[in-house]
Amino acid sequence: MQKIHIFDTTLRDGEQVPGCQLNTVEKIEIAKALESLGVDVIEAGFPISSPGDFQSVIEISKAVKNPIICALTRAVKGDIDSAVASLEYAKRKRIHTGIGASDIHIKYKFKSTREDILKRAVEAVKYAKKFVEDVEFYAEDAGRADLEYLTQMIEAVIAAGATVVNIPDTTGYNLPHMYGEKIKYLKEHVSNIDKAIISAHCHNDLGLATANAMAGVANGARQIEVTMNGIGERAGNTSLEEVVMIMRTHKFPYDTNINAKKIYPTSRLVANLMNMPIQANKAIVGKNAFAHSSGIHQDGVLKLRENYEIIDPHDVGIASSEIVLSARSGRAALNHHLERLGYTLKPIQIKKSYEKFLELADSKKQILDEDLHMLMGKTLTTPKRLETKLVEVVCGYPLKPMATMKMLIDGAEHTTSANGNGPVDAAYKAVNLAVAEAKVLKTLPVLREFLIQAMTKGSDDVSRVNVQLEYKNKVYFGFGSDTDIVVAAVQAYVDGLNKLI
Ligand code: KIV
Ligand code: ZN
Repeated sequence: MQKIHIFDTTLRDGEQVPGCQLNTVEKIEIAKALESLGVDVIEAGFPISSPGDFQSVIEISKAVKNPIICALTRAVKGDIDSAVASLEYAKRKRIHTGIGASDIHIKYKFKSTREDILKRAVEAVKYAKKFVEDVEFYAEDAGRADLEYLTQMIEAVIAAGATVVNIPDTTGYNLPHMYGEKIKYLKEHVSNIDKAIISAHCHNDLGLATANAMAGVANGARQIEVTMNGIGERAGNTSLEEVVMIMRTHKFPYDTNINAKKIYPTSRLVANLMNMPIQANKAIVGKNAFAHSSGIHQDGVLKLRENYEIIDPHDVGIASSEIVLSARSGRAALNHHLERLGYTLKPIQIKKSYEKFLELADSKKQILDEDLHMLMGKTLTTPKRLETKLVEVVCGYPLKPMATMKMLIDGAEHTTSANGNGPVDAAYKAVNLAVAEAKVLKTLPVLREFLIQAMTKGSDDVSRVNVQLEYKNKVYFGFGSDTDIVVAAVQAYVDGLNKLI
């Protein structure tokens, strides 16, 4: 198994996204998460670009111990001096210097010549080498550079001491076979290539950043430059999670040191701190990456997850696949969710509830748990052991709330009264007294959750109450709805009791 080094540039190329700038504390938090994820190199910033970037490289160098800390520079002495100063505390340090390699950059960006640029490239590497052993050279816009000239440049910088040579497809122009062939050509024609690691740095302007990086690896690159969630300039960079999971899923003869179970938490951290939401269909980490919504797929996944999933969500730190209930869902999906909520239905009840479910799903985009509870309230016609005949409460300032309940339990009537710190508390205590009197339960359940919501708005609105009752290590859900909030609360409690009894 050959090792592929993961060079993470979330904090440099990723941070160049407009509106995603981080402060030093946030950068340290991300750097620590990247360290525990197992990246080999953290590109911590471009120190000459701002005092904030300079300081961040210093602080990240102090906070992070295992990965190499890398600082970016142009092929300019002042940039390199600044990078050297910012890396003072890094245990393992790298300077990443470079210059444009394509004719378009040479002519229009630098207004220079190939010869002059080559000289500046070599001088920069030699200068950086005076301060650090590990020098990475980037040939900017290598994706559009003349191959002969690129070969000459890479050979010259390796001779000057570069330990890693980065071949960026800066504009995301290459197709996978083009990028792969470029790497192969360099591997075969740069005479001293065995003295350096080739690094693939790809941009996503045509949606090919990951494919290109993998083509680079297939042809000899042994480092990939990535960002978490693929964030970066314009359409972004190669995404860390994609390359890591491609190698694992296809069982290639090369792999990374990444602890894949930390992918999802790290992805969330980066998205949150950078204020950069992840598109729902983003591979591996998007909200829908493991969500199944069509009936055929849901049925297939419930029979065997692998029918429609090539990655186990647990492997990337996601708790489980998701079966989304919508108008396209089938009976298997509905039954799966009903069982999860504690409803065990007979086939005839499943048929009936599925019809009701489809009616509801046609008018609502997504069906949530509370919708299912409401649906079950309407569908299940099994006689209840506990029935509420009367709810009477006295409350208000400065009275002490008191409730009187009349309940029918297994056909026998029980009338009870209790005080509480509010009308709902008093009513629940009165229900408990009736349950104790009827001896239907040895102990009482614990009320784990009580949620009251208005259906729409207005003081005349219908209230919905959801409760969660815990009894003998199992959770039971109860639901009630009424314009009277105390009645809705009692209904929910009695509904939960009926289920557990
Ligand atoms: O895309 C690019 O060329 C870069 C270099 C600075 C490495 O990000
Ligand atoms: Zn880049």
